[in-house]
Amino acid sequence: MINVPKGTKDILPKDSYKWQFIENTARQTAKLFGAQEIRTPTFEHTEVFLRGVGETTDIVNKEMYTFLDKGGRSITLKPEGTAGVARAFVENGLNNSALPAKFYYITSCFRYERPQAGRLREFHQFGVEFLGSKEADIDAETILLAKTFLEKVGIENITLYLNSIGCITCRAEYSKALTSYLNENYDKLCPLCQDRLAKNPLRILDCKNDDCKDITKNAPKIIDYICDDCSNHFEKVKKLLTVAGVEFKINPNIVRGLDYYTRTVFEFVSENIGAQGTVCGGGRYDGLISDLGGTDTPGIGFAVGIERILMLLENTGKTIENPNTVQVYFAPMGEKENEKAFELCTSLRANGVIADFDHMGRGIKAQFKYADKIGAKYVAVIGSNELDNGVVKVKNMTDGSETEVEFDKLKEFIK
Ligand code: HAM
Repeated sequence: MINVPKGTKDILPKDSYKWQFIENTARQTAKLFGAQEIRTPTFEHTEVFLRGVGETTDIVNKEMYTFLDKGGRSITLKPEGTAGVARAFVENGLNNSALPAKFYYITSCFRYERPQAGRLREFHQFGVEFLGSKEADIDAETILLAKTFLEKVGIENITLYLNSIGCITCRAEYSKALTSYLNENYDKLCPLCQDRLAKNPLRILDCKNDDCKDITKNAPKIIDYICDDCSNHFEKVKKLLTVAGVEFKINPNIVRGLDYYTRTVFEFVSENIGAQGTVCGGGRYDGLISDLGGTDTPGIGFAVGIERILMLLENTGKTIENPNTVQVYFAPMGEKENEKAFELCTSLRANGVIADFDHMGRGIKAQFKYADKIGAKYVAVIGSNELDNGVVKVKNMTDGSETEVEFDKLKEFIK
């Protein structure tokens, strides 16, 4: 037997309806905020992520699925959605379209990480990217969109953590202070962080090594170094969220694991799914479009991990109704009856009723067993008497009651 690759999963019909619910809710919510769908390729030239996500990030350093294609080009499966959207925005000249451009996507992402609950090598994101506005209200709106989506799918008890990591100007000041502090503790840093210190000290704040975590606990906080403009922006975001009734906690340790962020960063974190509790992460990225060769265009967005949403719903006992269940299953008892079942099914399907009938030539008992297995709501038995009288005997599979229904009244009865 050949198994799926480590860190990937089949999504079987017993679960796929849950995915459809999450995806439909994502689309509806994004639409309410004026966002339109964008679909970018599953793979990009590696450079998109080197420049977009950043060469000193864990994603680029350790986790990308990168390979040379047959033409010798370096190709990478997308580890996240933002950089590809930014590339498409630049390449298609969308800065000349109506701004802000509001995009959403639902996509597979690929990261070579050590798989564990809530962490896969192929996972799925619902994300939004709003490009073109530097105003604080779009930050608040982006966060509100994420919150609305989480509420609509049924997630409760989730904490929104918020921080500002400033702009390039204030980051330079902060970097100096951080580097100086970390230099004092150089020997205690892990070898990777010792290397990071010269290249990108901010990444050390993300390190999962316990010694590094101990050191960074007392490191200078970026929020104390942000310039007046960034500080005013952040105050406005907080005020707008408060007015919108969105509760949040300021967490100066949130720096996010990608290099493109500026100013507002945020995460929605749950206590109910173990170590991988971050369900949604996002923030502003005012330099990304120009880093990818476009005209200076600010942006903000977030992405939600769909697997983590489903885990959270399951762990908190939330159920999703399966709207794809067969409403009526016909159990014909002979060849002529089978033809009638075929005809009735066709007519009901044309009227939007989910209908099916036996395709295996099974006896009546086995047909009921099958109907039960697929969760059919009604079983409509057609024997020779029924056929002669133009009726079916309909059994309600939930309460066991039986009703004789004329052929042409079936639609109303089932609906
Ligand atoms: P991220 O924090 O790397 O941000 O990922 C966003 C979400 O994707 C996470 O909160 C998590 O739910 C899910 N996720 C990440 N890695 C995995 C994994 N290995 N297995 C399962 N789920 C995972 C980004 O990707 C940014 N592009 C978000 C963004 C959009 N920022 C601005 N716009």
